[in-house]
Formats: sequence, C-alpha cells, structure tokens
Amino acid sequence: MKKLFVVLMLLTFATSATLAIAADSVTYDGKQGKVTFNHKGHSDKMKCDACHQGTPAKIAVTKDSAHGAVCKDCHKAKGGPTKCGDCHKK
Ligand code: HEC
Ligand code: HEC
Ligand code: HEC
Repeated sequence: MKKLFVVLMLLTFATSATLAIAADSVTYDGKQGKVTFNHKGHSDKMKCDACHQGTPAKIAVTKDSAHGAVCKDCHKAKGGPTKCGDCHKK
C-alpha cells in the first residue's frame, strides 16, 4: 500500500507540470441520488478522445449533458448503463 502511494505521488509530480490531472472518480450528488463517474475505469477501457476533443480538459456535467452527449448517448450506443438506478444510487 505504502509503495503504491509513493509510486502514485511520483507519477503525479512527473505529469502535473505539463498536464491537468483528472480525479480517478467524481461523484455528483442530487435529489435522484449519487452518481459516481469512474474516470479511471472509463479511461482504461477507451481512449481519451472518446469523450474529450483536443487536449483533455474539464467537461461540464449537468443533468441535460449527462442524460445526453456527455454520458447516456454513449451508453446507448456502446451498451453501458441506461436505467436511472444504474447511475443514480440512493
Ligand atoms: C448514464 C448515467 C445516468 C442515467 C442513466 C440517468 N442519469 Fe440522471 N443524472 C446523471 C448525472 C451525471 C447527473 C448530473 C448530476 C448533477 O447535476 O449533479 C444527473 C442528473 C439528474 C437529475 C438532477 C440532479 C438530481 O439528482 O436532483 C435528475 C432529477 C435525474 N438525473 C434523474 C434521472 C432519471 C429520472 C433517470 C432515468 C430516467 C436518470 N436520471 C438517468 C446521470 C444519469
Ligand atoms: C468516458 C468519458 C471520458 C474519457 C474516456 C476520459 N475522460 Fe477525462 N473527463 C470526462 C468528464 C465527464 C470529465 C469532467 C468530470 C467532472 O469534473 O465533472 C473529465 C475531466 C477531465 C479532466 C479535467 C479534470 C479537472 O477537474 O480539471 C482532464 C485533465 C481529463 N478529463 C483528462 C482525460 C485523459 C488524459 C483521458 C484519457 C486517458 C480522459 N480524460 C478520458 C470524461 C472522460
Ligand atoms: C464514450 C462512451 C462513454 C461515455 C461518454 C460514458 N460512459 Fe459510462 N460506460 C461506458 C461503457 C461502455 C460502460 C460499460 C463498461 C463495462 O460494462 O465494462 C460504462 C459504464 C458505466 C457505469 C457502470 C460501471 C462503472 O464504471 O461504475 C457507470 C456508473 C457509468 N458508466 C457512468 C457514466 C457517467 C456518469 C458518464 C458521464 C459523466 C459516463 N458514464 C460516460 C461508456 C461511456
């Protein structure tokens, strides 16, 4: 565990000078329940440009964008989760 932490810290220092670092996962909280977007899990399975155009940067995740182009459209096309409770967890 300790070793892994050190390696991760080194990686962070090595890359942060040139690149913005995305969190491994982001959680959005709302009335419908929490949605956890596993950025790392998605990035391991597909290229950055599946979601980012040009240099990867922040993408606005709102109710409308998430239910459309930013999340759900791809799930419909590629067999990801599309039911409310698949994304929103109480
Ligand atoms: C692919 C994942 C996904 C699916 C499927 C999905 N949502 Fe969402 N939804 C999100 C994300 C991400 C947000 C943005 C959360 C925020 O605004 O903080 C969101 C936002 C919302 C919001 C506004 C924020 C809140 O929780 O109060 C509501 C209401 C909502 N969704 C309802 C639904 C309903 C109803 C369904 C099913 C018909 C559904 N969602 C299906 C991902 C999803
Ligand atoms: C499945 C879609 C998807 C893939 C694949 C993906 N990203 Fe992201 N990325 C996002 C979303 C959505 C956000 C915005 C998350 C948030 O902060 O709400 C984001 C945010 C970011 C940010 C901004 C972080 C911040 O908070 O400023 C960077 C940098 C980033 N991604 C880099 C990458 C890189 C590099 C790759 C490839 C290794 C990648 N992303 C792959 C969807 C994706
Ligand atoms: C470019 C395609 C693509 C985009 C964009 C995308 N996803 Fe996914 N997502 C997938 C696929 C494909 C799977 C199924 C992966 C599997 O079953 O191995 C998946 C799985 C998931 C899962 C269930 C597995 C897990 O990782 O927890 C959740 C939750 C999820 N996505 C949320 C989101 C949210 C929230 C967004 C938008 C911020 C998003 N996804 C954007 C392709 C995408």
